[in-house]
Amino acid sequence: SSKRSVRYVCQACGAESPKWAGQCADCGAWNTLIESAGEATTPDRRAAIAGEARIERLHEVETEDAPRVASGLPEMDRVLGGGIVPGAVILIGGDPGIGKSTLLLQVLAALEGRLDTLYVSGEESLSQVRLRASRLGLPRLDLPVLAETGVERIIDQLTRHRPGLVVIDSIQTLYTDALDSAPGSVSQLRECAARLVRHAKASGTAVILVGHVTKEGAIAGPRVLEHMVDTVLYFEHDAGSRFRIVRAVKNRFGAVNELGVFAMTDAGLKEVSNPSALFLSRHDQPVAGSVITVTRQGSRPLLVEVQALVDASHGGSPRRVTLGLESNRLNMLLAVLHRHGGVSLADQDVFANVVGGMRIQEPAADLPLLLAALSSFRGRPVAHDTVVFGEVGLAGEIRPVQNGEERLQEAAKHGFKRAIIPESNRPRKAAKLDIEIVAVARIEQALDQAL
Ligand code: TYD
Ligand code: MG
Repeated sequence: SSKRSVRYVCQACGAESPKWAGQCADCGAWNTLIESAGEATTPDRRAAIAGEARIERLHEVETEDAPRVASGLPEMDRVLGGGIVPGAVILIGGDPGIGKSTLLLQVLAALEGRLDTLYVSGEESLSQVRLRASRLGLPRLDLPVLAETGVERIIDQLTRHRPGLVVIDSIQTLYTDALDSAPGSVSQLRECAARLVRHAKASGTAVILVGHVTKEGAIAGPRVLEHMVDTVLYFEHDAGSRFRIVRAVKNRFGAVNELGVFAMTDAGLKEVSNPSALFLSRHDQPVAGSVITVTRQGSRPLLVEVQALVDASHGGSPRRVTLGLESNRLNMLLAVLHRHGGVSLADQDVFANVVGGMRIQEPAADLPLLLAALSSFRGRPVAHDTVVFGEVGLAGEIRPVQNGEERLQEAAKHGFKRAIIPESNRPRKAAKLDIEIVAVARIEQALDQAL
């Protein structure tokens, strides 16, 4: 019944258009539109039109309490929002070699006896998979595995064996016979994923899609699939570090920004269940330009070190470089520092970094970042038993952050003696915290107290 219409799909961004053009109207890339004769990618809409629509009363709608299967790896369950939900589609992206296949083999081994699983390898031969599994000392070597890249044949197997969870490693190796384009192209990627999503929803089999983050242009990356799946996890790491962070950036079944932390070992990934102090560089002496803050990642407080280097700029416009922090935020803070703190860094380069490859996306890092910059500029360290958090407003006010007490507790637990925090985060009298509180309402006070 499905009428095949000709469409053109941009191989750079995935945008569709009914007509060919030399330049993609969406992303502006040249010569990237390729004819695609597959099914339109929104079969659900057509199905909805074909079937009869029915209006229901909200309170009569049946709710399904998603039952979850714990993966057996608590750090993994944390990012998944409690475990694996039947029929859920989870995308795991990350650089090649970061440990995606290893982690998923460990998850499958840990699910032994609780969920039937299947590992589909499109990337490595089964003997390579077996070699890795025995090298890692995986407890379960009778894991069902399949070497296949044709999505129709994979779905045949899934229909026959009905596993509770299938891992597709990787989605970029899959292809469907319905399209002429090469595996790894945007249209193949999306069509194969769409078929697996449909199968997951119809059968209840949960699907984990592995996607390599690729150098731009080479092959299509996992980003083009994010909107099709329920959960998106990204593997992150700091160059040279043996720690691996799995972050939930989208989750229909749990909180976003939740982190799972692992350490890479010869025997695979080991969970780091208390990662709080992992991201501190622990200087022997206090150093200028370094400030410890307590950030919240998902549901958990984490101590991290914010560093800044301020140095005389040589001609041209001064440089503003951030790693793990927003550069717009830095520019704003420097303006506030000038206007309300009376310190101009207009002729200075400013570099800012979060130690350990951590990313901070909340304004609680404003005050620590600002103090780190001023500390570097003046060559004067902030006392290294001090933690700092607080949002900085454009009027120079220090605004409260969420979960202040919990952050203070975490700092006290790790032996910090003093906390420079927003006035409105001053703990209630009853809260007994073993840490000296310096509560500030304005940036001027904060500068006085810290430096
Ligand atoms: P791999 O899981 O193959 O990465 P990806 O699937 O993301 O490309 O891991 C890369 C290599 O590192 C592989 O040879 C196994 C090895 N490795 C370990 O030895 N220990 C570990 O904890 C991890 C994660 C990987
Ligand atoms: Mg792999």
